[in-house]
Amino acid sequence: MQSAFIRDLTEDVLKRAGLRPGMRVLDIGCGVGDVALLAGELVGPTGSVLGVDRSAASIKTAERRVAQARQHARIRLAVADLDSFVPDETFDAVVGRLVLMYLPDPAATLRRLASHLRPGGILVFQELSMPSIRSVPDTPQFLQCKSWIMETFERTGFETDMGGKLFATFLTAGLPGPQMISAGRAEGGHRSLIYAYMAATMQSLLSAMERAGVTTADEVGIDDLAERLLFMAYGFIEQLPPIFLLHAILLPINVVRLIQVRNPGLLRKSRMIFLGEQRR
Ligand SMILES: C[S@@+](CC[C@H](N)C(=O)[O-])C[C@H]1O[C@@H](n2cnc3c(N)ncnc32)[C@H](O)[C@@H]1O
Repeated sequence: MQSAFIRDLTEDVLKRAGLRPGMRVLDIGCGVGDVALLAGELVGPTGSVLGVDRSAASIKTAERRVAQARQHARIRLAVADLDSFVPDETFDAVVGRLVLMYLPDPAATLRRLASHLRPGGILVFQELSMPSIRSVPDTPQFLQCKSWIMETFERTGFETDMGGKLFATFLTAGLPGPQMISAGRAEGGHRSLIYAYMAATMQSLLSAMERAGVTTADEVGIDDLAERLLFMAYGFIEQLPPIFLLHAILLPINVVRLIQVRNPGLLRKSRMIFLGEQRR
């Protein structure tokens, strides 16, 4: 469901970054293959995509989906842990979505992978900025879900504001400052899937929440959570004038960053310029 919500944002980012037919692309933390499949469409039959993920189960699912999409000639998949993964080839682009947030040292991974880019290659990453998630106006249920989700990620040791930290992470990796954009979805209305999406996110995190001691299944009331989120936003509509119908949720994929680094071959020169500017 998440992937369907953000597919168009990812496609836009990959196109803006310059993914085009014939390119060789590495997709890190590819999961069940959504970004790899998208990249496969953009690079076409003359290009290639290598997707890597540490989850063997996800790679298996991705392989099935790639075969179904008839992209097996251009997309390869492999189980690998990014903490130690060293490719034995070079790429025109390294891409990743919602993956740096899980890495203990994302700058080190970026530094290692950037050295496998051909000169002029591009790095493209999309990461969340969870603190930016908003509901307008706020509803208690929405705020509670947001707080449970963020607390679970924090207690598990994952970064909740990777989107906000991308720029600094690139500099820490010794890369030039990236170009960035911020984008997201704003959703509302009775027919919006956003309430079901929030409930599905809660469902997928429920056991992690319980393990981390954040909340319990009983407290969350997962079975009718989507209905309650919707009801709090719209349940009181009959008593209020129409203007109050305007409830919106700015989706959890609220901030997406585009990172594009051109000419990593000029890295040393870029860093000298950076230091030179600092001295002035
Ligand atoms: C939220 S999913 C994103 C999947 C995919 N990029 C997408 O956007 O659809 C995060 C993925 O990163 C993978 N991952 C996390 N840490 C990893 C690591 N150290 N090495 C390889 N994969 C990792 C997980 O297994 C998971 O599939």
